Amino acid sequence: MKVRVPATTANLGPGFDVFGAALSLYNEFEVEYVPKVKKTHFTLKGFGKKSLPKGEKNLFWQSMQKIFNVLGEDKYNLKNLNIIINTGIPLSGGMGSSASAIVGGVVLANALCKNKLDKTQITNLAVKIEGHPDNIIPAIYGGICICSKNGNHVTVAQLPVPKLKIVLCVPDFELRTKLSRQILPKYVDFKDFVFNTSRVAFLTAAFCSSDFSLLKIGMQDKVHQPYRGKMIPLMDEVLEAALLSGAHGACLSGSGPTLAAFCSAKDAVNVQRNMIKKWKRNSVRANAYILNFDAKGAVII
Ligand code: HSE
Repeated sequence: MKVRVPATTANLGPGFDVFGAALSLYNEFEVEYVPKVKKTHFTLKGFGKKSLPKGEKNLFWQSMQKIFNVLGEDKYNLKNLNIIINTGIPLSGGMGSSASAIVGGVVLANALCKNKLDKTQITNLAVKIEGHPDNIIPAIYGGICICSKNGNHVTVAQLPVPKLKIVLCVPDFELRTKLSRQILPKYVDFKDFVFNTSRVAFLTAAFCSSDFSLLKIGMQDKVHQPYRGKMIPLMDEVLEAALLSGAHGACLSGSGPTLAAFCSAKDAVNVQRNMIKKWKRNSVRANAYILNFDAKGAVII
């Protein structure tokens, strides 16, 4: 059995821990049940080929085990599975690679157990493993999602999926989400709270009305990007380069260091080129992907 899980970009600027979107870049997780095999065999391909752990520390495997435990299923364990993980999502941060492993594990384990859990139960369990919902939800539902976590229960709403391209610009250094969350302040200034509330309203209006000119203001943020920008050289300059090249809006992707720009198809190559150029001129090497929104979320293939 095999599951395909999309990359995700979280926050979309001001919607910290609330907004997320699924993108057309994928990880694939495949599992074969081999009753006679004595030790599970991991095959890793793609970006995680050398760095992902094989065995009990593997997040995909851990997530599967959580579901087997919840369902009281003891047939599958580390002794009798063949696991193949093909990572098409870069690991440097901001593209939901951990969320994809969790969603892959939860969805696949549930499918192996004849889908005993429904979508809401899977969603709540996956968010519990990750801690915050904004990568997990779009990885499961696809499209652009709004989510809120109340205790162990998550509420989800989906926005219309626009025909925009997303340029993801990925610098060649890593920033772990844990560190990128630790540096955030404990309290938010009231003026910044009002600023972000207005931007989130414009962000929602832009996608609901397809008036993408609203994304320029709707992707501004004062709650997390200014702090994270201190660890991402030239973040503001590269975002500005995207806007000057025709992007409707641009922001830090999740907790970074990846940056995301949202633009029409005709401007995508120009946006991609100029974001890379801006970083390169300052000695930061970067790759950029031109992607679509993924409307399906995780699917068994
Ligand atoms: N909302 C989370 C954060 C996403 O910004 O820390 C992490 O990918």
